[in-house]
Amino acid sequence: MYGFDIQSAAINATREKLQHNQLIDGVTLIQASHADMAVHIPVHHHGSIKACMFNLGYLPKGDKAIITQTNSTLLALIAVCSLLAPQGLVTILAYSGHAGGDEEADHVEQWADQLDVQFSVSRFLSAIPSPSAPRLLVVHKR
Ligand SMILES: C[S@@+](CC[C@H](N)C(=O)[O-])C[C@H]1O[C@@H](n2cnc3c(N)ncnc32)[C@H](O)[C@@H]1O
Repeated sequence: MYGFDIQSAAINATREKLQHNQLIDGVTLIQASHADMAVHIPVHHHGSIKACMFNLGYLPKGDKAIITQTNSTLLALIAVCSLLAPQGLVTILAYSGHAGGDEEADHVEQWADQLDVQFSVSRFLSAIPSPSAPRLLVVHKR
């Protein structure tokens, strides 16, 4: 399993939680952009990734100025689609409630809309209507 974040604070917090719960074995945490995942994930795993989860936005209790950006998020989504195994899943949780978040979430939805028939997309919205409610997209590779 691979985890990416550009911030050491997020990588360290994730490592501590995994160690605390004795789940660290088999996990590689990488401080780099998810846009570069194909460079960091060994070639022998390309095409066999079963699931990838994106949690966009900023690190809770962290620096709210460090947020995922539309361009690198879209590059990461394009990259993961080519790394996925058949029947693989990508989940994308996008937040609208911060500057840039709405635009990023809209672009992610537009990207999902133009995927070819190899992929199916499900969308989940909060039951409580709010402009800042997170949006969840699930992309399934047939
Ligand atoms: C909502 S937080 C998620 C934190 C953690 N991954 C989790 O799921 O609990 C969004 C994270 O995206 C990270 N981030 C921003 N740009 C990124 C990028 N290009 N590649 C990878 N992570 C990025 C931020 O540093 C921030 O920690």
